[in-house]
Amino acid sequence: TGRNLHGFDPFRIPSAYAVRDAARQTQRLLDRHAEDGHGLPESVALVLWGTDNLKTEGAPLAQALALMGVLPRFDSYGRLAGATLRPLAELGRPRIDVVMTLSGIFRDLMPLQIKMLAEAAYMAATADEPEDQNFVRKHALAYMREHGGDMETASLRVFGNADGAYGSNVNMMVDNGRWEDEDELAETYTRRKGFAYGRAGRPVQQAKLLHHVLADVELAFQNLDSVELGVTTIDTYFDTLGGISRAVRRAKGGQSMPVYIGDQTRAGANGGTVRTLSEQVALETRTRMLNPKWYEGMLEHGYEGVRQIEAHITNTMGWSATTGQVQPWVYKQLTETFMLDPEMRERLAKLNPTASAKVANRLLEASERQYWTPDAATLQALRRAGEELEDRLEGVYEKAAA
Ligand code: BEZ
Ligand code: MG
Repeated sequence: TGRNLHGFDPFRIPSAYAVRDAARQTQRLLDRHAEDGHGLPESVALVLWGTDNLKTEGAPLAQALALMGVLPRFDSYGRLAGATLRPLAELGRPRIDVVMTLSGIFRDLMPLQIKMLAEAAYMAATADEPEDQNFVRKHALAYMREHGGDMETASLRVFGNADGAYGSNVNMMVDNGRWEDEDELAETYTRRKGFAYGRAGRPVQQAKLLHHVLADVELAFQNLDSVELGVTTIDTYFDTLGGISRAVRRAKGGQSMPVYIGDQTRAGANGGTVRTLSEQVALETRTRMLNPKWYEGMLEHGYEGVRQIEAHITNTMGWSATTGQVQPWVYKQLTETFMLDPEMRERLAKLNPTASAKVANRLLEASERQYWTPDAATLQALRRAGEELEDRLEGVYEKAAA
């Protein structure tokens, strides 16, 4: 059998280790959700990326199986052949419905696993079990009562892009700022990711079905896999997990829900900590953006370092736009550290005038969108800093043109 770039055999994903790990991790997720005062969720939205799944032999995709109470099935050669239901008595809780959203890279790398996940949802939906013990079945039957159609459609739970497309475009909208209402982000997400994969493994446009199944979702979850990349380092975390969170909120008529991150960056007993999105952003803000060691390291990279700082701020606003769960102090302290300290502002402007003007404008945009409410003096100082940086930028252009 073929081996991919990472040295794993795609036919053996998820591995036995990944399946065991997923059982532990989903229990941590359910425990955390309960500690936060919620009941057992009937439906969970899970974001699946390709690289994470390859590196961990399928641990995140095995979490989807674990929630539904399903195990992978292998043929006599040990190759992935489908799914099998665990008996309810052995599972010890109801089957939880899972809306799985795939990145384009996952779609490209794991066609076998896509079919297996679709089969898992179908098997759960068609199991002869009471609806209060099987939320996949409960929701699929409710869908058929309301919309007609067959179980094959009502049990579709694996969603992704159209063939050849990547991402939800929510990151591009946030970056260019040309949107009024957060529901526009949800609409774009649902349109882009509204292609359902059934047991045959081919995507079919089902944006309405996606909107419908999202209305049942009670929490969204993604694993964080790399120490180097936090949820505010790159714009793809809020594009995927943020995007689906906003789409759920729209489907639920504006009601928000918890968003969790499973920190898989540490091995052993400390691995797998489940944090709320708000906690994760706060942690990254403290350890990276507001940490002199981190930003001085960035500034050593000059032009690119300032661009990275700007990217963190834009990504932070991406989380506000998609989840509303970034604490206002984050923006206040970013403003004080990078914009209101004249020396720091001067350093940023010298290294990268474009990105430093963007920092000011993004922080102002965040206040206009009411993701934080600066006091009058802070707002005025930030506006003045922004004007100064814009003037410098014009000066740079004029000099270049002269
Ligand atoms: C992926 O592996 O699926 C992925 C990686 C980076 C950004 C988005 C998706
Ligand atoms: Mg994208």
